[in-house]
Amino acid sequence: MRRLRTQVVIVGAGPSGLLLSHLLGRRGIASIVVERRAREYVEQRVRAGLLEQSTVELLREAGVADRLDRGGLVHEGFELRFDGGQHRVPFTELTGWTTCMYGQQEVVKDLIRAREAAGGPMYFGVDDVAIFDMDTDSPRVTCTLEGEAAEIVGDFIAGCDGFHGVCRRSLPAGSFRAYEHVYPFAWLGILAAVAPSTEELIYGVHERGFALHSMRSPSISRLYLQVGPEEPLADWPDERIWAELRTRLAVDGREGLNEGPILSRGVTAMRSFVMEPMQYGRVFLAGDAAHIVPPSAAKGLNLAAADVRQLAAAFTAQYADGTRELLDRYSRDGLAAVWQGQEFSAVMTSLLHPFPTDGAYEARLRQARLRDLVTSRASATAFAESYVGLSRARLAATLATDPRLG
Ligand code: FAD
Ligand code: PHB
Repeated sequence: MRRLRTQVVIVGAGPSGLLLSHLLGRRGIASIVVERRAREYVEQRVRAGLLEQSTVELLREAGVADRLDRGGLVHEGFELRFDGGQHRVPFTELTGWTTCMYGQQEVVKDLIRAREAAGGPMYFGVDDVAIFDMDTDSPRVTCTLEGEAAEIVGDFIAGCDGFHGVCRRSLPAGSFRAYEHVYPFAWLGILAAVAPSTEELIYGVHERGFALHSMRSPSISRLYLQVGPEEPLADWPDERIWAELRTRLAVDGREGLNEGPILSRGVTAMRSFVMEPMQYGRVFLAGDAAHIVPPSAAKGLNLAAADVRQLAAAFTAQYADGTRELLDRYSRDGLAAVWQGQEFSAVMTSLLHPFPTDGAYEARLRQARLRDLVTSRASATAFAESYVGLSRARLAATLATDPRLG
């Protein structure tokens, strides 16, 4: 049996695990990352693409934003299309904050390279991860590492292993409460080798279902369609996807969409999940391992980054002067932000999607909300503050001075 020792054992090399490992490394705290998938797989996995300004700033603080600063597309507004018309929500004018389009897999590549350059131990293709002794001073991870049975003992374990990971499932029964909501539809997402049709994102609300035009670079578009919850990809040949996108994103009956070869496609379930607390003994969960949101408001990766910022600060305080206060507050403060993200994701999901159970009445209510968003500066500002992440930053600042809000 191979035996390793570190300060923080990190399970999962998604954005959460890698960023946590890198932030800790820069503060002189040792960690070992164990990831089930191959490196090539995690570097190619197409997922999020909208980074809030505070996420970009965190990546800059971590020293991994060179490529992001060169290639990220900074946005100051988005387009909202409904009832055949188009409207712009100028979120930067309303809040002072921008967003940035940069693929999650690029963030992952940048972080892996930075960990490599710093000599941080990272293992890919690790099987059979299991966690033990969670409520002792020496929690441990057992696994199959490079074909050999191994045990990694740490002072703490960070569960950054996503929604389907092993850490949350290993916690004792009854040690947390789970909140869950499943939506009766999914998103079919494609990545296409074609220049985006517009500079800004287009959210299209249509009676046939929602459509989103997004992008990853000046030559790669990312588009989504609302589909049924168990939609087989086989039912969606390329021409059907493009035809549906053209219809749902048309303005006054005019269609105008750049089309190109589809590089990848997938169906994403729409669900919300939160565990409370996000900690048990010396195991701390971060990102999708602890909570997920439907992708509508693009909050998943940004909430994961917010967890990691806080967890890295808490471990730093623990190792610098033995103060456990921030670790003890991690779950409570984090959950306040998580629920704010949940709430906004739910609002945006119900604003943009016709539900299968909707009647004419619900459709009219949605239309009224959309009209309000594009005619009331107060409504647009409140929406924009959540969209860009300003509301969460304000909440975090308030929590620091008024813990009763947590
Ligand atoms: P993950 O990225 O899931 O990483 C967890 C890692 O742990 C994985 O590499 C996994 O292989 C590994 N792992 C799992 N089990 C084990 C195990 N047993 N042992 C070892 N390793 C294990 N968010 C946004 O903010 N903006 C967006 O625009 C956006 N769009 C999205 C679009 C889609 C289609 C999807 C699916 C998600 C989107 N999200 C978006 C959400 C975002 O991708 C996630 O919130 C983000 O990946 C969370 O990062 P994470 O590191 O916590 O988890
Ligand atoms: C994306 O580009 O993946 C994306 C952008 C904005 C959203 C959701 C997803 O609201």
